[in-house]
Amino acid sequence: MRILALCGSLRAESINAAVLEAAALLAPAALTIVQYGGLAELPIFNPDLDTDSPPDPVRRLRENVGLSDGLLIASPEYAHGVAGGLKNALDWLVGGPEFYQKPVAVLNASARAVQADTHLRESLVTMAARVIEPASITLGLPATGVDAAGIVADPRLSGELAEALRQFAQAIQRCAEPVA
Ligand SMILES: Cc1cc2nc3c(=O)[nH]c(=O)nc-3n(C[C@H](O)[C@H](O)[C@H](O)COP(=O)(O)O)c2cc1C
Repeated sequence: MRILALCGSLRAESINAAVLEAAALLAPAALTIVQYGGLAELPIFNPDLDTDSPPDPVRRLRENVGLSDGLLIASPEYAHGVAGGLKNALDWLVGGPEFYQKPVAVLNASARAVQADTHLRESLVTMAARVIEPASITLGLPATGVDAAGIVADPRLSGELAEALRQFAQAIQRCAEPVA
């Protein structure tokens, strides 16, 4: 199963990026996690540009989402909201069919980021994502000094993340089963 990872932070030493990189290292064999690096190329959402021929970065994002069995999202909280770049990407995904009913796991790096986590989940549910609760966890990391290797080396963090990803794989498999 192909999982597309979307990070709301562009910061070089982002803890959210570290969580997503650690997830790629800890994922069960059934999941291949692909880090999506194209969020910064997206234009600011404008419904007038959301035509049958949207801008290339939008087309690329939608194609990548369409090719994926699930999305893994991690975002910082800025001024009690979801990071603008991530929200912009979600706004572009509203207009296409690729996102509908997509299984999504939200990884919240910081225990302080309660508002962003709540707002993000509200947007995802409004967009008809399937937010997989057992796979959506808060890791409670410090704001700095964390990298993927440190997360993998920490028994609590790596255990929680590996279990969340195992639950995500199971949930995606259940979503794909035909309804009896
Ligand atoms: C402009 C700005 C606003 C922020 N606002 C909040 C906030 O409202 N709540 C919070 O918990 N952290 C806030 N933070 C802290 C970041 O969410 C935190 O540093 C986080 O680790 C950044 O994610 P990153 O390491 O993935 O870049 C803010 C940081 C910046 C730069």
